[in-house]
Amino acid sequence: MASLLKQSLKLALIQLASGADKAHNLSHARTKVLEAAKAGAKLVVLPECFNSPYGTKYFDKYAETLLPSPPSEEQSPSFHALSKLAKEANVYLVGGSIPERDEGSKDDKKLYNTSLTFAPSGELLATHRKVHLFDIDIPGKIKFKESEVLSPGNKITLLDLPEYGKIAIAICYDIRFPELATIAARKGAFLLLYPGAFNLTTGALHWELLARARATDNQVYVGLCSPARAMKAEYNAWGHSMVVDPNAAVLEQLDEKEGTLIQELQAGKIEETRKGVPLYGQRRFDVYPDVSRGGKFEE
Ligand SMILES: *[C@@H]1O[C@H](CO)[C@@H](O)[C@H](O)[C@H]1NC(C)=O
Ligand SMILES: *[C@@H]1O[C@H](CO)[C@@H](O)[C@H](O)[C@H]1NC(C)=O
Ligand SMILES: *[C@@H]1O[C@H](CO)[C@@H](O)[C@H](O)[C@H]1NC(C)=O
Repeated sequence: MASLLKQSLKLALIQLASGADKAHNLSHARTKVLEAAKAGAKLVVLPECFNSPYGTKYFDKYAETLLPSPPSEEQSPSFHALSKLAKEANVYLVGGSIPERDEGSKDDKKLYNTSLTFAPSGELLATHRKVHLFDIDIPGKIKFKESEVLSPGNKITLLDLPEYGKIAIAICYDIRFPELATIAARKGAFLLLYPGAFNLTTGALHWELLARARATDNQVYVGLCSPARAMKAEYNAWGHSMVVDPNAAVLEQLDEKEGTLIQELQAGKIEETRKGVPLYGQRRFDVYPDVSRGGKFEE
């Protein structure tokens, strides 16, 4: 059987610290991406919200417009910085996520949590708008309602890196919904990538568990890329960006500080794992449905 990952691939996850100055943050991200490329990475991931502070009240101010695509420099400095950077570093670049404003939308909210992926040519390969919005309101305790300011995306993002194979991209809270991961894996993804920013409670409890759970369920590689923790910021991210292999072993995990993780994903590892625990031949779609027969993708 052909390997889902056609040849071994060095993946880099960049756990950046991000703050209030967009231009500074973009140039800092550039330095880190170029360093990772120099170390041999061919697929580089930036964290959620890498170019703006994290929090619903900032989305409007920091939002950029991406449509019609490609946007002008003025509409989206982040789009152009990422595209140029992918080309300069000669890597596939998953640009974390940015707040996106859709001027053409009929909905009055018009803001999305969006992740852009570029090819080494600088060409835009995929746009993922976060599908599951995070709303929580426990009186007297915590209120964080993304749906007050954001709209959800409506599709699963699966993309083909011609030399390597297919990867899926989703954002943060999306990782809690196993269907999305399972559909992408059954459609042939070798890697599920989640730029995300869990907090100190859910990070300690669920971050590694969810990465390993999605890897166990689907027997694929999983990468989580968080911003570094900044205790002076309003939102304290867990950090701990990590890569988990198809057998659910954590290959490497950062701590909470800024850092870069580079891991080689091995061709053949998925097939070896699936031989050992043959879920793929033993599912009972006569007893329960195959969720991958549904699923909405970009045309
Ligand atoms: C982003 O900009 C702020 C303000 O200039 C700075 O404090 C922060 O360290 C920057 N983050 C990165 C990743 O450079
Ligand atoms: C995207 O979603 C997360 C929650 O999962 C939210 O907290 C974050 O600030 C959003 N980021 C952007 C850039 O919109
Ligand atoms: C993190 O988020 C969870 C649930 O979303 C919330 O219950 C908890 O209080 C938050 N923790 C911190 C440290 O903000």
